[in-house]
Amino acid sequence: MTVGSHLADLVGAVQYDKGLVARSIFVDPEVYALELDRIFANNWLFLGHESQVAEPGDFITTYMGEDPIIVSRGHDGHVRALLNACRHRGMRVCRSDEGNTSFFQCPYHAWTYSSAGELEGVPKFRLGYAGVLDKKEWGLREVTRVESYRGFLFGNWAPEGPSLEEWLGDFTTYFDLIFARDPAGIEVVPGAHRWTVDTNWKIASENFAADMYHVEHSHARPAELGLMQAMPDEGYQISAGMGFVGHAFTRPVSEDAGGEEPLHSYWTLPNIQTEFLAEMRKQVAEEKGAALARLIPLGHGALFPTFAFLDLEQFRLMRVHHPQGPDRTLIHQWCVLDRSLPADVKDAVRKQYELTFGPAGLLEQDDGENWRECQNGMRGFIGRQLDSNMMLGLGLEKSASEIVGDDNAPGVAGGIWSEGNQRRFYEHWQRFMQAPSSAPASEPSPGRG
Ligand code: FES
Ligand code: FE
Repeated sequence: MTVGSHLADLVGAVQYDKGLVARSIFVDPEVYALELDRIFANNWLFLGHESQVAEPGDFITTYMGEDPIIVSRGHDGHVRALLNACRHRGMRVCRSDEGNTSFFQCPYHAWTYSSAGELEGVPKFRLGYAGVLDKKEWGLREVTRVESYRGFLFGNWAPEGPSLEEWLGDFTTYFDLIFARDPAGIEVVPGAHRWTVDTNWKIASENFAADMYHVEHSHARPAELGLMQAMPDEGYQISAGMGFVGHAFTRPVSEDAGGEEPLHSYWTLPNIQTEFLAEMRKQVAEEKGAALARLIPLGHGALFPTFAFLDLEQFRLMRVHHPQGPDRTLIHQWCVLDRSLPADVKDAVRKQYELTFGPAGLLEQDDGENWRECQNGMRGFIGRQLDSNMMLGLGLEKSASEIVGDDNAPGVAGGIWSEGNQRRFYEHWQRFMQAPSSAPASEPSPGRG
């Protein structure tokens, strides 16, 4: 896709270093079309966790940008990401969220593909296609690269560019504290929550990357119900590599905490994982130092562009904000558990997740309403010409090692009242939007002259 000067101007109008983000980037269809290329066809995108496709024949379905994807462990044991679009007429061949199968049969005319994506069955093959159709040429389109970090699978259409681990960069330090603190690994509660919000994908993602500023006011009702208390002024926001984390806590970290002292958050739900997390902090303190261990649980965060998580004493979740047009976002979300948690704690964690951040959760509904109305405020002729203000904490940022008190803490950090993570989010966004595309141009179909 070539970029005309009008589109280049829209992308260039983001001045993240001044905290100014042009609102046209949330509503303009040309900007959105360029995002599908430069962001979603040229980056590592979260696909799922290996435990969700543990056995041959296991599959889950997801999206990369707007492209529907099947993540399938073939009968040869390899995990592949396959475009979930029949090579005959484009029908979605797999309509299930997850399952186990030896083949995928298209509902339209019954072309049938193996769990590795090869075209194996074609009705009327001998009567109608003899000598014309080479089945080897018409398998499901496979995502160019699939790589795994700590069991988290990511896909990338671009054949060139950094490996997944290189792309994550310094964020691996924080990723490990969230998702690899339990030596036994994590498990994903079966069954994704899936729902849509009428908003741009960036509004949801930047909220998870950093936005502590909204919590006290937007979530005032849950606070009245006793789920939360007033936000403290203590906390941190860190961006490192391609990721972001942030957390609020009421008690300053003390030097003599020995890595065992939890950071008390603004949540007032029972801290059901306290004992387990104290043990995790102790183990991490021995391996990586007390200062980093005290960050557990890390709070909220995101990985550019659309992966996000919450990691709290009460529950943990991961989610993806799939774009479905400039003003529509499809959310896939899972409750995530450390494998070593006792069964009764796992059950309690799942219930607190449902209460707060399931699609009908008390806090999730507050957020969805905000995001939808931000989109409404920006889509008009005048509204789209203004800038959003992301100046909170501008000029107050330090190195993360200074905020955390550990030289092993990479990245840039601000205090709790900061939009530094948002500014970095839009720095990434602009860099990718201005870079040339390396996504593969579609290969011509066999037989095309
Ligand atoms: Fe799939 Fe026709 S669209 S078999
Ligand atoms: Fe919120």
